Amino acid sequence: MKFFIDTANLEQIKEANDLGILDGVTTNPSLMAKEGISGKEAILKHYKDICDIVDGDISAEVLSTTYEEMIAEGDILAQIHSNIVVKIPMIKDGIKALKYFSGKGIKTNCTLIFSAGQALLAAKAGATYVSPFLGRLDDISTDSLNLIQEIRTIFDNYGYETEILAASVRHSMHIINCAKIGADVVTCPIQPILSLLKHPLTDSGLEQFVKDSQKMQ
Ligand code: E4P
Repeated sequence: MKFFIDTANLEQIKEANDLGILDGVTTNPSLMAKEGISGKEAILKHYKDICDIVDGDISAEVLSTTYEEMIAEGDILAQIHSNIVVKIPMIKDGIKALKYFSGKGIKTNCTLIFSAGQALLAAKAGATYVSPFLGRLDDISTDSLNLIQEIRTIFDNYGYETEILAASVRHSMHIINCAKIGADVVTCPIQPILSLLKHPLTDSGLEQFVKDSQKMQ
């Protein structure tokens, strides 16, 4: 399973990359705005900076919502680096844009997926990734893991190569459950990844080993 970090913060991206297990980065307009990135030049530079840190797929989201504007924006984003994945919202014009980029061999990530039908449409349009949002479904008392399972079944039934990128991942159990179901990628802030490290028996066991190692010196 691939691990992507879901942030536009360069320090957090570096920290995750230094762990040596990072496969890519996802961003969205909210995460970019949080870092104070504004204006065309600053946006393109920021994505270039991320590409310079991480050698993996970097999702850069279009800001527009019409077909013509999305393909114009996406074409510019795709020129930044060969690792750029153009992130497109799940709307009617978005499906057309996914088809356009797929025809040009440009990677895409269809975002804001909340149903299996949306994922199926994006896969048919040739999306490289679909991003079902787990945390936001949980927030409205809907079983987000059931959605991941449904999409897995549908993609496997028809051999779609579109990868399931589980997004809006909030905690380590989301990661474990996605791995059990067979999501291809999870994207989340660094904390849920670091939480995977934790076990009290590891801490107490290491404490004892460190103590005993002193008897050996
Ligand atoms: C990733 O592609 C999404 O933009 C992101 O995971 C959304 O996460 P949130 O629901 O925590 O904002």
